[in-house]
Amino acid sequence: MYSEYLIKKYKALFGENFRELIEANIPKSIRVNTLKISVEDFLNKIKEKILLKKIEYTKYGFYVIHSKYSIGATVEYLLGYYAIQDPASMYAVEELDPKQNDLVLDMASAPGMKTSYISQLMNNKGCIIAFEINRNRMKSLRSNLTRLGCKNVILIRDDAKNAKKLNLEFDKILLDAPCTGTGTLNKNPEARFKDEKDVLYCTKIQRELLRTAIEICKSGGRIIYSTCSLLPEENEFIINEFLEKYDIKLERINFGDEAFVKPYGIELCDEIRKCKRFYPGKHLSQGFFIAKIKVL
Ligand SMILES: C[S@@+](CC[C@H](N)C(=O)[O-])C[C@H]1O[C@@H](n2cnc3c(N)ncnc32)[C@H](O)[C@@H]1O
Repeated sequence: MYSEYLIKKYKALFGENFRELIEANIPKSIRVNTLKISVEDFLNKIKEKILLKKIEYTKYGFYVIHSKYSIGATVEYLLGYYAIQDPASMYAVEELDPKQNDLVLDMASAPGMKTSYISQLMNNKGCIIAFEINRNRMKSLRSNLTRLGCKNVILIRDDAKNAKKLNLEFDKILLDAPCTGTGTLNKNPEARFKDEKDVLYCTKIQRELLRTAIEICKSGGRIIYSTCSLLPEENEFIINEFLEKYDIKLERINFGDEAFVKPYGIELCDEIRKCKRFYPGKHLSQGFFIAKIKVL
């Protein structure tokens, strides 16, 4: 069952067999946390408990092929040796490519899977300022960052639009935007019932946050805009609108399916091809969209 709105959209975008692409079961996946252990030592420690397979398009990601225990309840998990994270979510952070001395802004942080990976890639150096608006979600964010040993993160519970008030210019910004979650049907079956008003609600916030990101990113700096929605309304249409209005350009993302340049027959800038889409039935990840934006 889906909302009529989504059925209509999905058939127009992916054809009658859209379910194969977006409902496929995906294995659980983990990221080795090199802030706490090397990949080699981790694989040696875990091999009696969990059978893993490398996710080729990520640096530290592995699919869980078989596990004797719940992967969120092992000693190694509690020690922070690994995080449970979707492959496309890991990949978005790899495309951000944070460096050790960067000043990074994460605009929508909880539960902190991407923030903690940024911290890992920065080797706990430099500084990440992470915003999260929701008080309840702050708890899981704090506990994940503590368990994973992330020490270069300043957490701010506030609307990320207020990041402007910090009067800082960021080298890299991650906007993993709040969205309808229509790419995560396995995890969130209720996302099948999202309709036009949900999309309008999310796109308003997405626009406001992306506008803020562009204003406070250094010239020459990079913004990753990502969502776990498969709707062009939350992805390609937003990026297209901003390409026309702001001094930005897109950078090519290596892995994933080319983003749509003519969704529903509506022609967008050809540059949008540089953005990438991920599908459960094709990339064994949640449905995901990534745009890599350079601020000029
Ligand atoms: C897609 S989730 C982020 C997932 C997270 N990046 C991760 O990888 O673990 C979006 C988050 O944005 C938060 N949020 C929504 N509106 C916000 C705003 N205006 N400012 C800051 N955070 C916001 C939501 O509460 C939610 O936790």
